[in-house]
Formats: sequence, structure tokens, C-alpha cells
Amino acid sequence: MSNRAARNLFIFGSLFFFVIFLAFTYDTMGKLDQRAPEVTNEVNAGKMVWHKYDCIGCHTIFGTGSYFAPDMTKVSDRKPKGYLKQFIMDPRSVNPAAAMPKLGITSAEADNLLAFFDWIAKVDTNGWPPKPILAVAAGVGGRELTAGQRVYQSLGCSNCHAINGIGGTSGPDLTRVGSRRDRAWLFGHFKDPGEYVRNSAMPKVEAPDADIRQLTDYMITLK
Ligand code: HEC
Ligand code: HEC
Repeated sequence: MSNRAARNLFIFGSLFFFVIFLAFTYDTMGKLDQRAPEVTNEVNAGKMVWHKYDCIGCHTIFGTGSYFAPDMTKVSDRKPKGYLKQFIMDPRSVNPAAAMPKLGITSAEADNLLAFFDWIAKVDTNGWPPKPILAVAAGVGGRELTAGQRVYQSLGCSNCHAINGIGGTSGPDLTRVGSRRDRAWLFGHFKDPGEYVRNSAMPKVEAPDADIRQLTDYMITLK
């Protein structure tokens, strides 16, 4: 190649990729505003509460912060509001073994925090941070799921409960729940947890009775 051709290749090649770079930058900047919903006063106030109690001293958000406690980015997609509010205000009333201290958060502060969490959950983070693996223990490894296991999976019970080590830790471990509880207790508790356990933070199971019966059958097998 002559010197002249090499120079032209350098100049036009660089220009070509610079134009592509500009086009992508323009495209990304145009989308940024659409990736997060509007910040309301509640969301703003919630962020202030988040700072006031130094939640990030234990938790992460968008994958950054401290790794002592669970990530909060999508927490409001995984857990209902009533549960979160009760937990934030008094963790041990939900889970007697909770490591999170009671910080003295007021009801109004908790509501603002929930608005903040809702906002964060709606930010399009391109799937970051990765979701925790939520599966029915028995379903791992390609085995066919029973009807009860399918209901368990579709209702997101493993967001809060673990079976054989898989799932969340917000509620009691269910690996041996069948040896602790009988059918009537389980069925009634699903319909209205608060009737059976004082101050229960478990949400009512909103599903047809047939599904709840299948769920109960599944629980009974866990021994
Ligand atoms: C001293 C550390 C610490 C601080 C400070 C802290 N947390 Fe936690 N938090 C935890 C731990 C640990 C857990 C996991 C459950 C448990 O063992 O308590 C948790 C759990 C939670 C959960 C329940 C998550 C779930 O999936 O069930 C929420 C919601 C939460 N924290 C919100 C907050 C908010 C909001 C603040 C600040 C106001 C805060 N935390 C401050 C340690 C902390
Ligand atoms: C938001 C968190 C959350 C979700 C979702 C949830 N639970 Fe719970 N669950 C709890 C908490 C907290 C308790 C302890 C309080 C109680 O017993 O009511 C509990 C208790 C239980 C118990 C009693 C365990 C025992 O040993 O006493 C069973 C069984 C149970 N849950 C099954 C389920 C099933 C099945 C689903 C799905 C339909 C589900 N839970 C969804 C939080 C949750």
C-alpha cells in the first residue's frame, strides 16, 4: 500500500467509526430519560430516609453498597408492600431471627421508603443486578413438577421461603413443614395467615381453593 492510501485509510477509517460512535451516543442519551419513571416528592423523601438511617451501610442498591444484607433494587417486585412495611419498621416481628436491627422508622418514613423502592424497581437496569435463583428445589434437574409444586412456583413462594436450601429466608424454611403442620392448619393459614399466627407478615394466598388444596398436598409431602 502506498503512503497516500495508508493515510486515507487512517483518516476515513477513523472518521467512519467516530460517526458510528456519535450515533450510538446520541441514541443512548435519547433513551436515558425513558429508563426511569418520574421522581415524585415521596420518592425523594424516601431517598432521604434511606440516607438518614444509612441503609446502604448494610444493603446494596443497583448492586453497590455493602454486602451484609440483601440487594434492594427489585425488592418491591418480589415482596408485597404490607410485608415490607412491617419488616422495615420491626424486622423481628416478621422473623424472630432477623439480623436487621429495629431502627425506629416511623410509619410515614416507611411509606416513603416504599415509594423509593417502587421507583428503583421500575428503573430499567438492563437486568442488573442478576436475579437470585428462585426455583422449586424438587424441580431442579429437569424432573417433572407436581401440580402443587407448579402452584408453589407460579405464586412466587420461594421469594420468601426455602425448600432444601433453595429460596428466600424472609419466611420459615419449609423443608420439613409437613411434619410440623397438618392439612387443616396449612389450608386455613394460606387463606388467612393472620388468623393463625399473630402479626403474620405472610400475605394471604390469592388463588382458587383448588390451587390452595394442591399447595397443601405438596406441603404435607415435605417431611
Ligand atoms: C445493620 C445492618 C442493616 C441496616 C442498617 C439495615 N438493614 Fe435491612 N436488612 C439487614 C439484614 C441482615 C436483612 C436480611 C434479613 C435479616 O436477617 O434481618 C435485611 C432485610 C431487609 C429487608 C427485607 C428484605 C426481604 O427480602 O425480606 C428490607 C425491606 C430492608 N432490610 C430494608 C432496610 C431499610 C429500608 C434500611 C434503612 C432504613 C435497612 N434495611 C437498614 C440488615 C440491615
Ligand atoms: C412476602 C413473604 C412471603 C411470601 C410471598 C409467602 N410467605 Fe409463607 N410465610 C411468610 C412468613 C413471614 C411466615 C411466618 C409467619 C406465619 O407463619 O404466618 C410464613 C409462614 C408460612 C408457613 C408456615 C410455616 C410454619 O412452619 O409455621 C407456610 C406453610 C408458608 N408460609 C407457605 C407459603 C407458601 C406455600 C407461599 C406461596 C403461596 C408463601 N408461604 C408465600 C412469608 C411469606
